Amino acid sequence: MPPAPEDRPAETPERPEPTYATNPAVAPVGDRRPAGGPANPSNVTGAAPPTGTPSSASEFLDALLQSKSELFRGTKEVLRDSYVPSRLPHREQQVRQVAEILAPALRGDIPSNLLIYGKIGTGKTAVVAQVRQEMLRRTELTGQLSFVTLNCGNIDTPYSLLQTTGNSFAKTEGERIPTGWSLDRVQAGMRRLMDAKGGTIILVLDEIDRLVARSGDGVLYTLSQLNTELETARMVLVGISNDLKFTNQLDARVRSRLNEEKILFPPYDALQLQDILRERAREAFRDGVVDPGVVERCAAYAALENGDARRALALLRLSAEMAERDHAKRITPDHVVKAKNRLEQDIIVECCRTLPPHCKVLLYAILQSYERRRTGVLTGEVYESYKRLAERLGLQPLHARSISNYVSELESLGLIRATIVSRGRGGRTREIIVDVPISETMPALEEDPLIAPVGRPKSRGQMLLTNFDNPGRTGPF
Ligand SMILES: Nc1ncnc2c1ncn2[C@@H]1O[C@H](COP(=O)(O)OP(=O)(O)OP(=O)(O)O)[C@@H](O)[C@H]1O
Ligand SMILES: [Mg+2]
Repeated sequence: MPPAPEDRPAETPERPEPTYATNPAVAPVGDRRPAGGPANPSNVTGAAPPTGTPSSASEFLDALLQSKSELFRGTKEVLRDSYVPSRLPHREQQVRQVAEILAPALRGDIPSNLLIYGKIGTGKTAVVAQVRQEMLRRTELTGQLSFVTLNCGNIDTPYSLLQTTGNSFAKTEGERIPTGWSLDRVQAGMRRLMDAKGGTIILVLDEIDRLVARSGDGVLYTLSQLNTELETARMVLVGISNDLKFTNQLDARVRSRLNEEKILFPPYDALQLQDILRERAREAFRDGVVDPGVVERCAAYAALENGDARRALALLRLSAEMAERDHAKRITPDHVVKAKNRLEQDIIVECCRTLPPHCKVLLYAILQSYERRRTGVLTGEVYESYKRLAERLGLQPLHARSISNYVSELESLGLIRATIVSRGRGGRTREIIVDVPISETMPALEEDPLIAPVGRPKSRGQMLLTNFDNPGRTGPF
């Protein structure tokens, strides 16, 4: 059964994330020697060798669990994106602003629509989640307030956006809006479900810019005028975007409705990131397991990445995982360096994993063409390959226009580069170059159940191994 709208979690895909725990000592981490640590900090890395090398799965798992417990206080959940920390250092002002704008909903008034802007990892989703949590706590008795939080990065079409929004209010299977209805009927179904719920509905559209890039602003127009059609419910839109210019693409009416209030989230600097990491580390790790320099290094790397707190936390968590693998008793700056290298690979894989389905197929088509040619591929050619793949996968191919929007999206994610080329009388087209290592990205996509049926056969090495495992079998080698 789907969660009640009030409890609906943000449909944000999990991203690799981080944290470490630090001694809540007064001295800054950089000046502190870990409690109980050796006098010579150069020994601090000392990977504690296990007493015996584990030889069975059970010993191996026990050893892993044991080393984990030496660093973490409890679960690693504290370091994940889905965790909403009770305090958000350096976002006090933004929390207050969002709360002030949405608070009228607690008194039964209709708040203004709100747009939140800021680069990635600047705490936009976390701030809204925290305000949401607090508001719902205060409205438990009246039930006159609901939140629906959708991540537009996971929603392919306006149709699924309206359907998902409506269905988050369905109390029974029978009330749900099925797939197959016309768009108008879905819209009417959504309104009916909202009116049945009543009260103020705050619809948070996270990564709203991706929706607009992909499908235009038609659905936002529909949503922004919904209050004229709703009978008992009232809806407020909260858009969250990391593209500061996306409103330029909006129709003037939609822009002015969405823009009733707006808040900019500035990037964090290295010192602010250090505070964020220390606080989270205190919750996540045992006292004294984070060496001097770890927080500083994670913060410095992330500050170079546009002040992205997610990246900083991911580095911290991965550093802890690296330390666990080394059976180390503490996390050291060397673990941060290893973590940074790992993270760069993981980011590509993760990024592919969270693409919407047609976008994954498109990316795979681009990679295939590029792998064959090793030179730029033209969008027309890519579209043809995409169509063939989609058909083989039993998907209805999207129109060239939507695919062109996905090309722009893949470019904005840094996976490809597209440059406009002139083709004489043939007009202009885009030439696509792959900007990620094919050797890692293709297998990552092929692991996806969606792409697997059209993926390449297993690599030569793996097939050889298979044949060694089954000496009786004849194979291509
Ligand atoms: N001030 C803060 N204090 C503690 N944790 C924070 C703070 N800001 C961000 N974080 C954490 O950093 C991670 C990224 O934050 P969040 O998801 O809110 O960023 P965002 O601005 O929504 O990024 P994106 O644009 O990529 O969606 C989350 O785990 C969040 O809890
Ligand atoms: Mg976000």
